[in-house]
Amino acid sequence: GKGGYDHYMLKEIHEQPTSLRQTLRGRADPATGDIALEDFPPGTFEEISRVQFVACGTSYHAGLVGSHFIGSRGLPAQTFLASEYAVSAPPVDENTLVVGVTQSGETADTLSALRRAEAGGARTLAVTNVVGSTAARECDDAMFIRAGPEIGVAATKTFSSQVVSLSLLGERLVRDVVGRRSDDTQDVLSALADLPDHVQRILDYTKAHRVAKRYRDSDSYFFIGRGSVFPVALEGALKFKEISYEHAEGFAAGELKHGPLALVTPATPVFAVFTGRHDRKTLSNMKEVEARGAPVVAVASETNEEIVQYADDVLTIPDTHPDVAGILANVQLQLLSYHAAAQLDRPIDKPRNLAKSVTVE
Ligand code: F6R
Repeated sequence: GKGGYDHYMLKEIHEQPTSLRQTLRGRADPATGDIALEDFPPGTFEEISRVQFVACGTSYHAGLVGSHFIGSRGLPAQTFLASEYAVSAPPVDENTLVVGVTQSGETADTLSALRRAEAGGARTLAVTNVVGSTAARECDDAMFIRAGPEIGVAATKTFSSQVVSLSLLGERLVRDVVGRRSDDTQDVLSALADLPDHVQRILDYTKAHRVAKRYRDSDSYFFIGRGSVFPVALEGALKFKEISYEHAEGFAAGELKHGPLALVTPATPVFAVFTGRHDRKTLSNMKEVEARGAPVVAVASETNEEIVQYADDVLTIPDTHPDVAGILANVQLQLLSYHAAAQLDRPIDKPRNLAKSVTVE
């Protein structure tokens, strides 16, 4: 059942402290910096020279976070939309690891991208929530995200667990291929260990309900982010349109001035995601939209006074490592979408035209 919540989506958002603890259990020790992934002991990926992620929808956004994490630590990595992978035909060889990110393990587009990679001679790995799923059975290897069953059509807790899993897998890959721990390994692992408590703090203190109400008569909702949280801007917009049926778009913060700024008016609130890295640049993008009269809602650390001073509203997140901040920001955006949809009386757990698992190409 829904455990006292009005919707599975809200229940699953609130389960994240627990599901994240399950995802992390036994896999990382911040004190020593050790990473212990059941099927992937040190050296597992020594032969790998590049990584490609294939996925759809929310899982694609998790893949984008994963390739940013790995790429910025020195291992070439790219993320592809699974439905585009066949037609964009990226080269693969036996030193390529192709990672299918799929909660259900049954998404047809992702399965066919993985089959194509396999036929090209790549090594394949499924990152999935479902033991015994087609992706888990067909790939050379599988990593389970252990989020527990997700009933709501909108993916919430599985996104958070995918990103954590890809960070752990990313650390393993970087160590095996680059040959040493990344410089900030211990900081990342302690930020991950703190994540369940940090998410709980957001759930306890969020103002997302009030912010959703304040902007509910808007024409359109824009989300911007840079670097590790560009995918969080995309995910914020996907979730928002999926369950509220309001128009929403996510942009790389730096791209606004290359076109989308033409759409910005006082009736288009802009949600700007900050991580503590590259904030100065995103702050100037925030000022660009403010100059056009748009309200700006910052999703940022409560300790960043300059951002707090400029924004019309702030959805705060606890201070953490910049590569982990996106998971926290995304929890605030999940709550924003949920409350916006609830106030509009939408059928949150079963949005029109959508299915939980898409088994046709
Ligand atoms: C959005 C959503 C979808 C899925 C996508 C991939 O909330 O749930 O975009 O993320 O259909 O599904 P999986 O991860 O099962 O391959």
